[in-house]
Amino acid sequence: MTLATLSPPYNTADLANGRAAFARCRSCHTLAEGGARLTGPNLWGLFGRPVGSMEGYTYSRAVQDADFVWGPDNLDHWLDNPKEFLPGNKMTFAGLHDAEDRRDLIAYIATQTRRPPTA
Ligand code: HEC
Repeated sequence: MTLATLSPPYNTADLANGRAAFARCRSCHTLAEGGARLTGPNLWGLFGRPVGSMEGYTYSRAVQDADFVWGPDNLDHWLDNPKEFLPGNKMTFAGLHDAEDRRDLIAYIATQTRRPPTA
């Protein structure tokens, strides 16, 4: 997926900054298709995927009981404050509080977790 095909404000995000922000996730998550499961699940195909649905990964009860589909808005909230967004989840991450960093990171994840359209 390319930056220009994302919806605003993500289509004007700073991908280099998003990539830099992903350094805070890298110890626990991979993005590529078939990427390793680390402490956290692989994030390939995240957008449009139901929460807690990466096969072979054992999620917390809180995530297993949650029922929504990942998109930019709920990911923004999750990354700002995972504990508040879904109490009882097991992602030990304090949150990324800078809204611009989150915008750039979400755009970066979107471009890395889906194949660009062919043709
Ligand atoms: C210390 C390890 C750790 C860090 C750092 C971390 N995560 Fe996670 N992440 C997890 C774990 C563990 C889960 C599973 C949560 C559960 O089951 O309660 C998770 C779950 C997720 C999910 C839900 C996936 C799904 O399949 O529903 C997303 C999205 C996510 N993390 C994104 C991120 C991003 C983006 C960052 C960087 C800003 C990040 N995480 C940082 C460990 C981490």
